[in-house]
Amino acid sequence: MEALEAIFNRKSVRHFTGEDVPMEKIEILLRAGMSAPSAVNMQPWEFVVITNKETLLAMADNLPYAKMLQNAGACIVVCAIPALAHRKLKDYAIIDCSCASQNILIAAEALGLGAVWTALYPNIDRIEFVRKQLGIPKDVIPLNAIAIGIPTGEDQPKDKFKPEKIHFEKW
Ligand SMILES: Cc1cc2nc3c(=O)[nH]c(=O)nc-3n(C[C@H](O)[C@H](O)[C@H](O)COP(=O)(O)O)c2cc1C
Repeated sequence: MEALEAIFNRKSVRHFTGEDVPMEKIEILLRAGMSAPSAVNMQPWEFVVITNKETLLAMADNLPYAKMLQNAGACIVVCAIPALAHRKLKDYAIIDCSCASQNILIAAEALGLGAVWTALYPNIDRIEFVRKQLGIPKDVIPLNAIAIGIPTGEDQPKDKFKPEKIHFEKW
C-alpha cells in the first residue's frame, strides 16, 4: 500500500522552500533510480547530482522550462549511455533511463520531497548547454534535469484516470 500511496500522490512539484535536501535522501533517490528495470539489465545510466547553488541558478537561467531550479535544493541529471544499452540502441538507453527517472520521482514523493522532470532530451540546444555546463561527454545523453526540493505544499496530484482509455481483450 505504501508504494501505491507514493504513486498516486506523486505530482510535479515546482514550488520549493529553498531549503537544502539532505544528502542521505539524495542517496536514497539514486538507489531508487538504479533499482529500475532495464533491457537485458544493461543499466545504461549515470547520474550527475548538483547541489551547488550557482550551478542550479545557471541551469534555471538557461533552461526554458526549469525555472523552479532557482529554489530547488538539488538536481539530478539522468544520463543515458547508448553504448552501454542493449544492442547499443539509443532507444533502449532512453527507455531504461526513463524508468530510472520515474523511480526517482516516486521515491522523492515517498521521502516527503518534491520533484519534477524537466526535459533535456530530445531538445538539442538544452542537451548541448547541459553537456557544456556539467562536462558530460558527447556520447552521453542527458535525458532530463530532475529538480528536487522541499515542497511548499502548493502542488497537488491530479486524477488522470480515464476509463475510456482502456481496452479489454481487443482495441
Ligand atoms: C518527458 C517529460 C518532459 C517534461 N518536461 C517538463 C519541463 O521541461 N518542465 C516542467 O516544468 N515539467 C516537465 N514535465 C512534467 C510534466 O509537465 C508533468 O508530468 C505533467 O504536467 C503531469 O503533471 P504531474 O506530473 O503533476 O502528474 C515533463 C514530464 C515528462 C514526462
